[in-house]
Amino acid sequence: MAGSGSDGTEGVTGGKSRFDDIYDRPDPRTYFRRLAPLEYEIPHHAQPVFRQAAAERAALDDGRPGRPAVLDVCCSYGINAALLNHDVTLAEMYERYTSPACEQMSTAQLAASDKQFYAERRRSEAVPVFGLDVSGPAVDYALEVGLLDAAFTDDLEQGSPGPALSSALAEVGLITLTGGGSYITDRTFRALLDGARRPVWVSAFVLRTVSYHPIVRTLAAHGLSTTVEVSRTYPQRRFTDAREQQYAIAAVRALGGDPAGREEAGRFHTLHYESRPDPR
Ligand SMILES: C[S@@+](CC[C@H](N)C(=O)[O-])C[C@H]1O[C@@H](n2cnc3c(N)ncnc32)[C@H](O)[C@@H]1O
Repeated sequence: MAGSGSDGTEGVTGGKSRFDDIYDRPDPRTYFRRLAPLEYEIPHHAQPVFRQAAAERAALDDGRPGRPAVLDVCCSYGINAALLNHDVTLAEMYERYTSPACEQMSTAQLAASDKQFYAERRRSEAVPVFGLDVSGPAVDYALEVGLLDAAFTDDLEQGSPGPALSSALAEVGLITLTGGGSYITDRTFRALLDGARRPVWVSAFVLRTVSYHPIVRTLAAHGLSTTVEVSRTYPQRRFTDAREQQYAIAAVRALGGDPAGREEAGRFHTLHYESRPDPR
């Protein structure tokens, strides 16, 4: 890993710039301020896809009492939960968290304001959302403002789920993921699926620089089949610099993708993978 860059990135891992210092702040302002110039946009593309999957999963009678919960993995400050359950867009979130008005507030003032902001925009179709992220400050903020119903900081890359997450997994019916495909592997998915008690679907947006195949295999071992439309890609963000772009172009080619018009045009692109139980 390289040292701190002049663009504020913390370094690189495997060629991709790291943003570790914006993941564990007491509130989301630095996250949005840092990612705004890079036009980080994948939660926006995921919003209608996750809403559709959540609605379809909620409509499925799995024979168990209570509504199935969505588990957003690598949930950070609850951005996907905000977009899933509230009449709000990612553009509005960028505007809010980079506004001079929000800049002036203490974290406590921002949290109080956010609580009201999201409560006023809560959708009637809102579903229970749990969050999993190794960042305690980020999930604490999401919990405090009411975006998450429960949150967990277990690092399933390193160990097994603790008792609280194990018990929550019994309620999960849909797992969602954006921006986390470079951080978690099949280890995390195996632990989650091993602990599931209801049929679990998975809806994930993953960079084309990363192979999702080990996760697809793990999901298949748990009875899920995965579909992906490889011709349809979703932009994630602009590259931080030419070095990162060169890395991404090479990584996409190494996995059999064509970077022309996509990574070659200046942005990371993702694929959307949807995994559901094998038809019986
Ligand atoms: C790029 S952010 C994505 C946040 C959000 N999903 C989005 O798209 O805006 C990546 C997140 O992954 C989290 N993360 C890194 N390693 C993790 C792990 N092993 N388990 C769970 N979360 C992890 C980081 O703390 C960070 O919040």
